[in-house]
Amino acid sequence: MKSSSAQAALGFSDRPGWDFGDYPYALEPLALPAPHRSVTLPAGALPAAARDAVDRFLDEAHRGFGTTDPVDADSLEQLFWFRWMVGHHVSFVIWRLLADALADVADGTGDQDAAAVRLTEYVRAYCGMLLYTGSSTRTVYQRTIRPSMYRQHNKFSGTWAPDYPAVRSLFRGRRPPPVVLSRAPALLREIALTNRIHLGVASKLVDQGRSLLQHAVLEGDVGSHRTWGAVFDCYFLTLRAPVTPLDVTAQLLRRQKAIAIDLATNGLYPDVGEDPDPVPEELRDPAVAQCEQDLVPALVRTAALAAGRGPVQEATGRGATGRVR
Ligand code: HEM
Repeated sequence: MKSSSAQAALGFSDRPGWDFGDYPYALEPLALPAPHRSVTLPAGALPAAARDAVDRFLDEAHRGFGTTDPVDADSLEQLFWFRWMVGHHVSFVIWRLLADALADVADGTGDQDAAAVRLTEYVRAYCGMLLYTGSSTRTVYQRTIRPSMYRQHNKFSGTWAPDYPAVRSLFRGRRPPPVVLSRAPALLREIALTNRIHLGVASKLVDQGRSLLQHAVLEGDVGSHRTWGAVFDCYFLTLRAPVTPLDVTAQLLRRQKAIAIDLATNGLYPDVGEDPDPVPEELRDPAVAQCEQDLVPALVRTAALAAGRGPVQEATGRGATGRVR
């Protein structure tokens, strides 16, 4: 990570409008430290330049990040590929932030109410990322995304994600974390919503996707076969390097801004004149519709928390989600 483009990819966004990758819907690699290393900024640890960059990000988020070139029917594949990759990147960082918050809760020291709020907000943002990442049409998923995983390995699996084991028990919900009691119901609701959305997306994109997933979870065979974290990382343009929590925060904010611009431009389900896919019952739930509307605000709240700015009460990212279905 020595070249100037690699340095830029580790830095905060530095100009208004789209500045992610070399052009709209291009990708950047994600650099993460080895699993189990904290990515959370220690309280008050932001250097002045980074504090200014975060302030600019939050100000711009309140005003709206603007728009970029919209997609048409010919560029849908590029858009959904971008979402598949960048949505996973943001999910990986959220899992890491969640793991750190879980460690704070297990530790029992520090502000336990704040730790519970962070957990709930991060799970909420992950719900949004599942919707965003899985917003592809079935046609593009079947033609491009699914075969690209199959080409790496015919059993390519989400269970291989190196950053996931630390949060697996949280999402399975078998052992709810010992958060302050008053915060537990909201956290459990968001966890249940992630599972509902995962099922809904699987069912929308893949024949038998719902039962594949249900079967894997019920049978407990998730993660029981050989795992290939490096194959997973290479596929998702993720490299392991001794980067700092500040580098991770900057990479998170860069992606959140690009996502907000994409959604303000194209909506979550771009209307390019193709017949919409049937919406599975899991995704017809009002809680899912609320999550779609809250997608960008939830990302901005996550950005503020990750940058040590505390909960952002007011809904942010005005109008940024755009058309939803
Ligand atoms: C939208 C983005 C997605 C993300 C971030 C994601 C993430 C994950 C993760 C982390 C796991 C491991 C769960 C565990 O170990 O407890 C998993 C498992 C699984 N996911 Fe997804 N998933 C996504 C989309 C999909 C889609 C579109 C399908 C379509 C069928 C799917 C089907 C499955 C299945 C069947 C499993 C069980 C394990 C396996 O056989 O691979 N997921 N997913």
